[in-house]
Amino acid sequence: MKLSEPGGKAFDPLTAYCLLPTAYINPRMANVRKPVIAGNWKMYKTLGEAVEFVKDLRGRFAKVDQCEIVVAPPFTALRAVAEALRGSNIAVAAQDCHWDKEGAHTGDISCDMLYDAGCTHVIIGHSERRHDHGETDEQVNRKLKSALAEELVPIVCVGETLEEREAGQTQTVLERQFHGGFRTLTPQEFSHIIVAYEPVWAIGTGRTATPEMAAESHRVLRELASGQFGGEAAIQLRILYGGSVKPDNIAGLMAQEEIDGALVGGASLQADSFSAIVNYH
Ligand code: PGA
Repeated sequence: MKLSEPGGKAFDPLTAYCLLPTAYINPRMANVRKPVIAGNWKMYKTLGEAVEFVKDLRGRFAKVDQCEIVVAPPFTALRAVAEALRGSNIAVAAQDCHWDKEGAHTGDISCDMLYDAGCTHVIIGHSERRHDHGETDEQVNRKLKSALAEELVPIVCVGETLEEREAGQTQTVLERQFHGGFRTLTPQEFSHIIVAYEPVWAIGTGRTATPEMAAESHRVLRELASGQFGGEAAIQLRILYGGSVKPDNIAGLMAQEEIDGALVGGASLQADSFSAIVNYH
């Protein structure tokens, strides 16, 4: 569908989407939700490796504009990576944050410090943080508020374990994580958030959710967003899929209207596989 009016004036895609029946326009195609491909490096890459790697990515992605690209190095490499990517189209995310601005919290890093290091995004509530460090929805909520106050874009992870899926609890878990994580947020605050649906059983296991399974959970999350923050917020919300995203399954996932990008772990660590994912179409 061509998004221009007879007078030559560009349509506001969101207005167009709100006015037309859903079947006529896909918000992703209308650029209401620009896709995001984010690489979560986890505990990989030394400082030198990280800088060399992003210099390579910078060249490869210089002409990419069909999606936003984000990399999330370990804390020790954030500053140097941000310097190496200054002026590029690749944004830098941290993998976690503390909710306080400063204080006696050994080993933690505040959003203020992340901003100072050159981050624009921060991953919050990743299942490995929830599992390894007992992170709760209450803490996710506090971290989120702090990230928003620092004007960092939170990428908030939710998703069920295998036992929960097999027990038919996927929707209940998503509801709990959504309401727990996002309670107290205003619609204005919520509009800055990116959600990543990452079924725990698909992370690092080579078992990807089928595109249909992922889209079903994304629909649940979008309905929750609509219920809590209104229809417009739900239309604009970008929901990424994460869990064994690879060059050979990204196109199928992205073909789903509900999937607005990917949070990529293992396959984001090599330039060839990450660039194949970024250039998925
Ligand atoms: P994976 O990790 O792509 O290696 O499964 C995804 C993630 O944990 O964000």
